[in-house]
Amino acid sequence: MAVPRSALVLSRALALQRAASSARSLSGSVRNSPALLYRTHGEPVQVVKLETLELPALGAESVLVKMFAAPINPSDINMIQGTYAILPDLPAVGGNEGVGQVVEVGSNVKTVKVGDWVIPKDAGLGTWRTEAVLNAVDLVTLPCDISVLSAATLGVNPCTALRMLSDFEHLKPGDTVIQNAANSGVGTAVIQIAAAKGLHTINVVRDRPDLVQLTDRLKAMGATHVIKEETLRRPEMKELFKLCPRPKLALNGVGGKSATELLRHLQSEGTMVTYGGMAKQPVTVPVSALIFKDVKVRGFWVTQWKRDHKHNEEALRSMLDELCSLIRTGKLSPPSCTEVSIEDFHKALDNAMKPYISTKQVLVM
Ligand SMILES: NC(=O)c1ccc[n+]([C@@H]2O[C@H](COP(=O)([O-])OP(=O)(O)OC[C@H]3O[C@@H](n4cnc5c(N)ncnc54)[C@H](OP(=O)(O)O)[C@@H]3O)[C@@H](O)[C@H]2O)c1
Repeated sequence: MAVPRSALVLSRALALQRAASSARSLSGSVRNSPALLYRTHGEPVQVVKLETLELPALGAESVLVKMFAAPINPSDINMIQGTYAILPDLPAVGGNEGVGQVVEVGSNVKTVKVGDWVIPKDAGLGTWRTEAVLNAVDLVTLPCDISVLSAATLGVNPCTALRMLSDFEHLKPGDTVIQNAANSGVGTAVIQIAAAKGLHTINVVRDRPDLVQLTDRLKAMGATHVIKEETLRRPEMKELFKLCPRPKLALNGVGGKSATELLRHLQSEGTMVTYGGMAKQPVTVPVSALIFKDVKVRGFWVTQWKRDHKHNEEALRSMLDELCSLIRTGKLSPPSCTEVSIEDFHKALDNAMKPYISTKQVLVM
């Protein structure tokens, strides 16, 4: 995502670990953990290295977590490149989401217990490692009756999709949502959550040789219409709006021309929410959309949402519960994932940056 760097700086994962450890490990033994570390910003394949970190002793407020799986998201790549809005101090362990299991708890820990599955509450924990000593308050539990891949990819993209479908427009069954990057992690979560809510979705993807297979896959998960970027500018759109109402909500993960075209199709007083900028091009708003349709142009960042609700544990819990119940009832599947062992991280990083790949690289530990 092309987000300008701000003055906000995350305390890096290693510093978090040190802060978390003020007492000896219960077992008293020194443990080492392989981790994907970067010491400078740059191209991920060049700067990320597999190193062995000595785990700090377990503090009273901290827990030892054995990581199961952690995806590679565009924001992880941008953090390593040094172009993301928040950057950890260096050296830093890569990765912002993933699921692990608590294997040891400090004496004062009340919020999690041994055996619990946990995911980070906020960005910046450094999830690309086999084990970590973390502050218990930085983690939230997940039920262990969902798949590891669902759990590992739940905290960022499905949360973003659910918030954007809930917090900007009052949508009722039969309303329409239009989105670009529809085959992305966010996009596939939007398709499924919207379908569960009885919403029509118009899903815009880039043309590719396997467009038919991709269209079939998105429709099988509940997409109402799947169209190419070029179609947005064609008269066929008029035909499409005979089948469903014009969208009240547009979700933009791309920017540039694609965003402008989404705006043109919004209904009067509709909203476009920008959450990503994969094309690295600014959003141009047509004057007519502002004057004659009074469209609202908004932005969303899930990290900010989580920080705004930091003291409202119930809000995070209820969002995760809603998503987990969609998963349990078969209405929300994880994105298509390619599981890669942590040792093969070069291949995973390389693939994560390729266009038209349509599969999330997930590091398995
Ligand atoms: N604001 C937030 O809170 C928030 C939360 C989650 C994600 N995001 C952002 O949302 C975006 C998608 O994340 P994700 O994890 O869902 O992505 P993902 O699963 O890795 O998929 C990437 C998507 O971007 C598309 N894409 C890549 N380069 C493009 C280009 N030059 N022009 C148009 N489309 C392009 C890909 O389409 P092809 O298949 O055609 O290559 C694919 O649909 C990223 O920018 C990410 O940072 C933001």
